[in-house]
Order: sequence, then structure tokens, then C-alpha cells
Amino acid sequence: MKTLSKSEIQFLLLKLHSLTGIIPIGLFLVFHLGFNSLRTVGVQQYQFGIDLINNMPYLLWIEVLCIHIPILFHSFMGFYVAYQGKFNVFRYAYPRNWMYTLQRVTGGVVFLFLVYHIGTTLFPKMIEGKHLFEASPFLIGIMNEQMSTWSGRLIYLVGILSATFHFANGLWGFCISWGLLIGKDAQRNAGIAFMFVGLVLALWGVATMAAFALDPVSVEPVFSKGMSL
Ligand code: HEM
Ligand code: HEM
Repeated sequence: MKTLSKSEIQFLLLKLHSLTGIIPIGLFLVFHLGFNSLRTVGVQQYQFGIDLINNMPYLLWIEVLCIHIPILFHSFMGFYVAYQGKFNVFRYAYPRNWMYTLQRVTGGVVFLFLVYHIGTTLFPKMIEGKHLFEASPFLIGIMNEQMSTWSGRLIYLVGILSATFHFANGLWGFCISWGLLIGKDAQRNAGIAFMFVGLVLALWGVATMAAFALDPVSVEPVFSKGMSL
């Protein structure tokens, strides 16, 4: 069997990096922001949503395999790509240079945001053993607290804007690098369409932040450990 050369392996890893930006990470981002926006409808609806997810079988496996490993792979490859700058410079004409640079900068910012965000939500939830119906009051309490300070709001604003820009601009980069957008007009129109996608996602996230900040109500578990269903 033919073994792959170093440049073939590098090519495959770059393609995988590009693909993971859309599936599963991009999809996760859309669902995550959409799902969290349930908080704008009401805290009970939001609690119901968190309860649903936290009572799923094999949740940890799904999270590790479909979210954590792809994000870690995309991030480490992303830092490598950013460091090797030369890989893509030829891809963009001058007006796109800003987008090219911002794509790399927002990737780094999103990484830092994720360390903070996961470190203050999922991580304490696991450490303190807040599983099943205990998870929603715990997580809602954390989000209320974070959205009660200007530093917390600023971190989330920067995180949401960076992630949504990175995804929207990344959609364009993805279509170019997979040969899906051929011709100047198609590239320009898709650029505008993807920026609208990013704008809608950003508004979703900011509206969710506002709902937590303006109405920080806490909730009780729907079922406690001692209760039978
Ligand atoms: C208003 C904005 C946001 C809210 C209210 C929010 C809320 C939450 C909560 C409550 C959790 C813990 C879920 C659980 O353990 O059941 C979580 C996890 C997570 N969030 Fe966010 N988040 C927001 C924005 C973002 C953004 C912009 C990103 C991407 C950059 C992101 C990525 C993640 C990831 C990767 C996890 C871990 C997922 C898992 O393992 O289940 N979040 N978020
Ligand atoms: C919310 C999480 C993230 C999403 C949804 C996401 C999505 C994407 C998408 C769709 C692309 C376009 C792929 C292409 O050009 O073919 C991309 C590219 C890129 N991502 Fe991410 N990404 C995320 C997090 C990160 C993180 C944490 C880093 C860390 C450095 C990063 C670094 C990069 C870099 C450097 C590129 C440019 C690759 C190139 O131009 O070839 N991303 N991302």
C-alpha cells in the first residue's frame, strides 16, 4: 500500500481543518446560539431546553466526540495555519487582506473565549457533579452572575462577535477553498449573504445576553435526586 507523502498528509489535514469549521463546529455554533436564545422567550423554556440536553444518554461521549475533539483539532491546526501565513496569502486580492487577517485574529480570540466560557460553565458543572435536572439551575445561576457585571458582558460580547464573524467569513473561505464559488459576482454575492448570516447569529447572541442581564431570575430543579419521576 502506498504511504502518503508529507505534503499529502499536510493537504489532508488542511482540508480536515477547513471541513471541521463547518461540520461539526459551525453547525454546533448555529444550534448553540439558537438554542440559548430560548432564554429570550422565558427562563422556563430555557430551563426545559437545558434539562432536555442534560438528560440525554451518552451526553459526555457526544460532547467529547462531536464538539471537544473537533474544536481542539480545528484550533491547533488553526494556530499552525496562522503561524504558517504563507499557505493562503495568494488566495485573497488586496481588499480581502483585512478579512484574511481578521479570520486569524478572531480564531485566537475565540480560542481564549472558549477557555473562559467552558472553564466557567461545563467545567464547574462536571467538577461539582451537577448532572441531569441539577444542571439547569446551576448553569442559569452562572449565566445570571456573568451577565450582571460589565466585565462579563464585555467578554461575552467580544466572544460572540468574534465567533460569528469568524464563522461567517469562514463560510466564504470554505466555499472558495472547496471550489464552490467560481466567478467574481458569485464570490461578492456570497460574501454579502454570509455577512447577513453572521449578523443574524450575532444578534441572537446579544439578545440572549440582554435577556440574562435584564431579568436575572434563578430556577429550582424540576426534579431533585430524591424525587421519583
Ligand atoms: C449568549 C451566548 C452564550 C450562552 C448563553 C452560552 C451558554 C452556554 C452554557 C450554559 C453552556 C454549558 C452547557 C452544558 O453544560 O449543558 C455552554 C457550553 C458551551 N458553549 Fe456556550 N454560550 C454562549 C455562547 C457561546 C459561543 C459564542 C460559543 C463559541 C465560540 C460557545 C461555545 C460553547 C461550547 C464549545 C460549550 C461546551 C459544549 C458542551 O460540551 O456541551 N458558546 N454555553
Ligand atoms: C466557534 C468556533 C469556530 C468556528 C465555527 C470556526 C469555523 C471556521 C471556518 C468555517 C473556517 C473556514 C475554513 C476554510 O477557509 O476553508 C475557519 C477557518 C479558520 N479557523 Fe476557525 N472556527 C472556529 C474556531 C477557531 C479557533 C478557536 C481557531 C484558533 C486559532 C480557529 C482558526 C482558524 C483559522 C486560522 C482559519 C483560516 C484557515 C484558512 O484560511 O485556511 N478557528 N474556521
